[in-house]
Amino acid sequence: MSIDNEATSSGDGQEYETIDQKVLIVGAGAAGARTAIELVDQGVNPEDMLVIGKRGHGDAHTTWARGGINGALGTHDPEDDWTIHAADTLNEGHFVNDPEKVETVTQRMPDQLQQLDDWGMPFSRADSGEPDQRYFGGQSFRRTAFAGDHTGESMLNTLIDQAQDRSIPYSENVFITRLIADDGRIHGAAGYDMDAGEFVVFDSDAVLLAAGGYTSIFHRHSSRDDENTGDGPALAYQAGARLMDMEFVQFHPTGMVGDRYGDDWDGRLVTEAVRGEGGHLYNADGERFMERYSPDQMELDARDVVARANAQEISEGRGTDDGGVYLDISHRDAEFIEERLPRMYQRFGDLGVDMAEEPVEVAPTAHYGMGGVVVDKDGQTDIQGLYAIGETMAGVHGANRLGGNSLAETIAFGEATGEAMAEHLPVGGRDSEFLHDRADSHFGDLSRIVDTDGQHDPEDLLDELRATLWTHAGILRDGDSLSEGLTELAQIREKASDIEVGGPTSRSFEFAMNLGFALDVAESILKGAVKRTESRGAHARTDYPDADPDLRVNITAQQDSVGGMGLKTEPVEEPSKAVQDALDEGHELDYHHLE
Ligand code: FUM
Repeated sequence: MSIDNEATSSGDGQEYETIDQKVLIVGAGAAGARTAIELVDQGVNPEDMLVIGKRGHGDAHTTWARGGINGALGTHDPEDDWTIHAADTLNEGHFVNDPEKVETVTQRMPDQLQQLDDWGMPFSRADSGEPDQRYFGGQSFRRTAFAGDHTGESMLNTLIDQAQDRSIPYSENVFITRLIADDGRIHGAAGYDMDAGEFVVFDSDAVLLAAGGYTSIFHRHSSRDDENTGDGPALAYQAGARLMDMEFVQFHPTGMVGDRYGDDWDGRLVTEAVRGEGGHLYNADGERFMERYSPDQMELDARDVVARANAQEISEGRGTDDGGVYLDISHRDAEFIEERLPRMYQRFGDLGVDMAEEPVEVAPTAHYGMGGVVVDKDGQTDIQGLYAIGETMAGVHGANRLGGNSLAETIAFGEATGEAMAEHLPVGGRDSEFLHDRADSHFGDLSRIVDTDGQHDPEDLLDELRATLWTHAGILRDGDSLSEGLTELAQIREKASDIEVGGPTSRSFEFAMNLGFALDVAESILKGAVKRTESRGAHARTDYPDADPDLRVNITAQQDSVGGMGLKTEPVEEPSKAVQDALDEGHELDYHHLE
């Protein structure tokens, strides 16, 4: 970590560094980078901010987002517009999205795509020279702009170039372990430098959580093991903010199958773009089974529908010997696949599979948490000065996210939240004495687990938790199984109080931190799923197979006065007239365009 204005401070017992920075951005993916850029463009001095990431520079999870980014540009389908994009988002979110946030994203996206283009993002191009747009699931028109199948990586590189042009400071391998807030006001954050093993306090006027989501706490997941472990939502929750809709977990239909391609690849994404470019799904009997599940939208129905279809084929014995179904694009020629899906083509080629000649094997994988931190229209949480965006926040996607809307959310809210933060700075009321007092006590707690010799390895406990969630809060759920999941969770919590951990530079220390966050997030998922006695979008309960109109609500979770987790329901707002009109027009993808 190298930061200019650092100072060393000593608390009641623990040595730590203090970094005084007006704005701290936790997370260096697209959401964090785009917000930082906007802050500078709104007049905030880059020297007053710091972006920190848990990984190396440029290696955020954004780089794994592949197939594209949505915005109603109308490159091929001029009848598309942002209201139809909003209508599709609400429709597939099963109307528990926050319509205002949906509009923030969909209304801003055409300009955001234009701006990325101006900033040099290497979009794939249509013959007209405009950014090309492909079909993605559940969308009425071709609305997903892309750079081959490395859209996230190309977008993050573009944003990093812009951030560097603005001299925005960045620090890598820093892990935030606690936010420090009281009376509904943020005072800063505490964490440690993962390289040096030193504790650090950030004395900050405003903190933005752009720290990703929580799906790698499921057994099969599309993220790398040490990202999307729930840090963002858990940090906010532990500081007193509300979480919302945590039970809505997206299972992507097409994750790689470990038994065929090896454990390192298990669950990793085979982009939806393979289906968007015409790929078909077959079971082991050679049947194109989506004809039974969704004859109109076929492989491009919403992700929850296709994921459940894949899971059902596998569980009813029509899967492959390795536990998947086949995804086949071999009816397209090699040149086409290489141009449109270069990373997939190369990855499978390296594994000995030529996608132009044969199908690949896929099965559902936990991919995205629609739930997250409750924020207002500016991205501010219940805690003044604490903001959350990207996968860390809740509200845009409802019960099921459209593919291509996550990258869209990062930059649309990056701009919106950056504008709002800049306007509200300085927030005022920062209490450094309180900050240091709480940080000192937190570091005391962390020091007590350094070099401990308990019975349980934190990474093993994380794996146990992953198995619990996969089994009890997976694609299909029911009340009894969810309750068993809560019992298992309590047992894992108990074990987590007796762990074997090395020093702060060790992997076991990092996993111990991840475990602490993952346990709270798992509790919110399981409890939300118990409370939601219906099926809606990605939340499918076999004991309540239909949607219940009375449960068209959001479920929030917040710490109660004795540290337990209390759940409430909150009403959902209605869309604006413009978006309601688009909903009433009843747009829908005509899959057969693709045939
Ligand atoms: O399949 C994909 O390329 C994923 C895109 C997304 O989740 O938005």
